[in-house]
Amino acid sequence: MSTAIPVQEDTGALDRVRALESECLLQNYARYPLVLDRGKGCYVFDPAGKRYLDFITGIGVNALGHAHPRLVKVIREQATRLLHTSNLYFHAYQGALAERLAQASGLHRTFFCNSGAESMEGALKMVRAHGHKIDPQKYEIVALHNSFHGRTLGALSITGQEKYRQDFEPLLPGARFVPPNDEVALEQVVSDRTAGIVVEWIQGEGGIFPMSTEYLRKARELADRYNALLVFDEIQCGVGRVGKYFAYQLVDPVILPDVMVAAKPLACGIPMGVVVANDRAAQSIGSGMHGSTFGGGPLACRVALEFMDILDELLPHIEEMGCYFRGKLGELQKQFSFIREVRGQGLMIGVELSFSGKQLVLDALDLGLLMNCTHDTVLRFLPPYIATEKEIDRAIGILKRVFKLAAKRGDAGPAAHQGDVH
Ligand SMILES: Cc1ncc(COP(=O)(O)O)c(C=O)c1O
Repeated sequence: MSTAIPVQEDTGALDRVRALESECLLQNYARYPLVLDRGKGCYVFDPAGKRYLDFITGIGVNALGHAHPRLVKVIREQATRLLHTSNLYFHAYQGALAERLAQASGLHRTFFCNSGAESMEGALKMVRAHGHKIDPQKYEIVALHNSFHGRTLGALSITGQEKYRQDFEPLLPGARFVPPNDEVALEQVVSDRTAGIVVEWIQGEGGIFPMSTEYLRKARELADRYNALLVFDEIQCGVGRVGKYFAYQLVDPVILPDVMVAAKPLACGIPMGVVVANDRAAQSIGSGMHGSTFGGGPLACRVALEFMDILDELLPHIEEMGCYFRGKLGELQKQFSFIREVRGQGLMIGVELSFSGKQLVLDALDLGLLMNCTHDTVLRFLPPYIATEKEIDRAIGILKRVFKLAAKRGDAGPAAHQGDVH
């Protein structure tokens, strides 16, 4: 018999779920006060039936919103056929998906796993093995301040934020951190000892900060000069999020990495991560050197294949809706002086405030809009790719009310409070 707490249309569900979790779960998450029960399109619903416009999509995962009919169909069908095979055997979908990813990315070899951090671990092993083959002293990995690459020990080792690392030191030796968008600093640190350079094209958790094209070209040039692998972390900014398959395709000519990691939206909520590499990088991992029991299972691969088909047609829409949303946020910026900046590409958008945005996230939730706050002052929006002007207008309406509340409370301090609402 199931012992899950029945939450259907239950207004007391939050208290009971929270009480049980506080007794039985590791206390590592600070959750918002909301129990989610179901979703449809761009909306999710709590057990009492209250509707929330989902503009955070499980931190960039539910790219097609919720209960997308084509994904539901594929999941249903595959569940009746075959859920798991392990990697002891072949199934029909890994190769097909790898081929699709190669067409979309320009990189020809894929390793499948289950999360962003796991894909970053795979990339780090690739980088280390690449360096090791050339010289055992070639093990340094250059990464950026303010980056985020995941919570495993390897991924943390190259995450450039002290708050995530401090409790777990010492981490992997050889990580060298440099400030983002500083070509001189990069040139000073990359050397013959460098096995890899790891960059998020747009730092997501770090507050939606894009890298400049010149910086990324310099990273490419240095990786080539010192025979190091250039790794792009596309876990948050990739797979359609910015209106291209991958963020590195935003510039012309494309700056191709040697290795690219992606995860979040790839199977739209069925866990999946990938390491996608060119032949030079891929050849550093030989038989038996890496693996994953669950990685690339038939269910996740089929869903991802269906998603890639849908994504082909959605890319221009993502770009268009991103422009529309940023334009509307820009109008709000003119009305509220505490909005410092609106940043982002496609449907990966940050709104930098002059004060902590935590209360605003709660206010928005109360009014039926899900977003989150990163780096304390940046409201982060990762809407579903299927969002239209209608949903964006609704989000903007709620945000306007949220900003008015903040202005009235004087969240930005007394001086800013005076002229906040025009
Ligand atoms: C850029 C980036 N890299 C890596 C990760 C880690 O992914 P996961 O949480 O799936 O392990 C994240 C997660 O937010 C991310 O945004």
